[in-house]
Amino acid sequence: MAHRFHGKIVVVTGASSGIGRAAAHEFARQGATLVLAARSHESLEAAAAECRALGADAVAIPTDVADDHQVRDLIDTVTSRHGRIDVFVGNAALFVYGLFEQTPTEAFRRVVDTNLYGHLNAITHLLPHWRERGTGTYVLVGSIQSLLSAPYQSAYVTSKHAALGLVDVLGDEFAHTGIRFTTLLPSTIDTPIYQNGANYTGKTSHPLPPTVSVERAGRAVVRSALHPKRYRYVGRIQASLVPLQYVFPGLFHKLTKPMVETFALRGRGEPTDGNLYTPADAGNATDGGWVAKRRRVTRPLLWAGALAAVAAVALRARR
Ligand SMILES: NC(=O)c1ccc[n+]([C@@H]2O[C@H](COP(=O)([O-])OP(=O)(O)OC[C@H]3O[C@@H](n4cnc5c(N)ncnc54)[C@H](OP(=O)(O)O)[C@@H]3O)[C@@H](O)[C@H]2O)c1
Repeated sequence: MAHRFHGKIVVVTGASSGIGRAAAHEFARQGATLVLAARSHESLEAAAAECRALGADAVAIPTDVADDHQVRDLIDTVTSRHGRIDVFVGNAALFVYGLFEQTPTEAFRRVVDTNLYGHLNAITHLLPHWRERGTGTYVLVGSIQSLLSAPYQSAYVTSKHAALGLVDVLGDEFAHTGIRFTTLLPSTIDTPIYQNGANYTGKTSHPLPPTVSVERAGRAVVRSALHPKRYRYVGRIQASLVPLQYVFPGLFHKLTKPMVETFALRGRGEPTDGNLYTPADAGNATDGGWVAKRRRVTRPLLWAGALAAVAAVALRARR
């Protein structure tokens, strides 16, 4: 994908951290002109500087996607500065762990305001502009939980299912036009979302394994913009649970709660609003350190296994 986005104007929301930041790096490598949006100033500026270091023209425009006026200003600023927006990546999202009864209603609303209405705000202001030009691509960064149920995540799952519904319908309504809607459905990705999200369970949150690298997810965002098919999955193992949920719903729904309780919520933790109401500037980074942590555990085990195998072969040869 050498400089496939040269001359293209790309807006990425949630670009101060995780998948959005990794996608911004990849768009920068492909020569895009980038506008990065998120609430935080400091880490968004840092992300824009990283893109410029990769050779791209990149600016940061702090924006809360849940605020319709701020989203309108973002889109107006970009279109008056560059004349158009070719690709808009709706990636910004908030995450909450908590049983429904543990999750404050205000927190639930904040998640839906960001993860659903954030897209509605952007699409509403993009469409008149894209209609006039006859072209534009909206990349929804959804989640495998846009399709799957997951206990302890009612707000997140509700918002992700709803956003997929919106973008799916728009995909149908704009079929055979130059305006494209495409959805990325990532499984667990190594980002700071698990450290930064809200958590009302009294347990510490961990990503549900297996965890895919954030760089792979960033490249998938760029591929979605380049080849906007209806759905693109990142991470096959969790994606294979989608047919299980619909073909064997009894079995699937028996497994989900023990799975989350065993792998994702371990050890005691203080209840927290996380980054719901204020951005986690200091906690923003491209990856969450989860893959590196896993490697620190699995590498010595693999080495020990390999040495034991070599020793066993050597002993057998001596006999
Ligand atoms: N990590 C995973 O396992 C995973 C799996 C499936 C799908 N996803 C999806 O991937 C996308 C990115 O998640 P991530 O894992 O990269 O999370 P992340 O590292 O926490 O990044 C989330 C980004 O969204 C921004 N954001 C949050 N609320 C915002 C708001 N109201 N307005 C503007 N920006 C806002 C955050 O920056 P500020 O705090 O500075 O605003 C940050 O840049 C999300 O849509 C998420 O649902 C993630």
